[in-house]
Amino acid sequence: MSEIIISPSILSADFANLERDIKKVENAGAKWLHVDVMDGHFVPNITIGVPVVKSIKKITNLPLDVHLMIENPDKYIKSFAEAGANILTFHYEACPDNIQNIIEMIKSYGIKAGLSIKPKTKPEEILKYLPLLDMVLIMTVEPGFGGQAFMPECAEKIPFIKKHANKDLIIQVDGGINSDTARICTQYGANSLVAGNYIYKSDNIKDAIQSLY
Ligand code: DX5
Ligand code: ZN
Repeated sequence: MSEIIISPSILSADFANLERDIKKVENAGAKWLHVDVMDGHFVPNITIGVPVVKSIKKITNLPLDVHLMIENPDKYIKSFAEAGANILTFHYEACPDNIQNIIEMIKSYGIKAGLSIKPKTKPEEILKYLPLLDMVLIMTVEPGFGGQAFMPECAEKIPFIKKHANKDLIIQVDGGINSDTARICTQYGANSLVAGNYIYKSDNIKDAIQSLY
């Protein structure tokens, strides 16, 4: 089993104290920082955009794992790449006919390309893109909000992806991750875990992060 990459989601942080809350997870053993970008169209919520990513980049050394929950992701790849994203993940459902082009666009900036699927999307649909990708993000809640309950049936997609991918593909899960659901996902073969509420709403952030390994 390769090393597990914990990527705390700043969606659950205090946005008025973002630097403080980023340092907290940085000092507690996080490997990446998960940044949720929502546009109010692809998902029914609006979060942050390019200027915030640019500012975060200046205050942390953690790789920025940017999760685009937006329509027309192709229009924004350049901006997020130049703002400092190290991993750029977009949704299959946002542009099913333009996947290869967007993956190539992301890679042209020398950063990692990720493709995400929502709970109702079958993993078979993205099979042909696996050789082009650095990461697949399997959503374990409907995207849009932090603090939702883990959907176990989504985690069952992990072995299928793992079976068809090369060994370097990162398999990430996002939504409702805590120490119990993390175990389920890593046993299935996930090696990157996003967690928002479980980390940021805990009394001890370090213990929370360590309990995910
Ligand atoms: C949901 C976001 C997640 C969210 C996870 O659409 O993609 O990254 O922050 O939050 P928790 O871990 O609280 O479910
Ligand atoms: Zn996310």
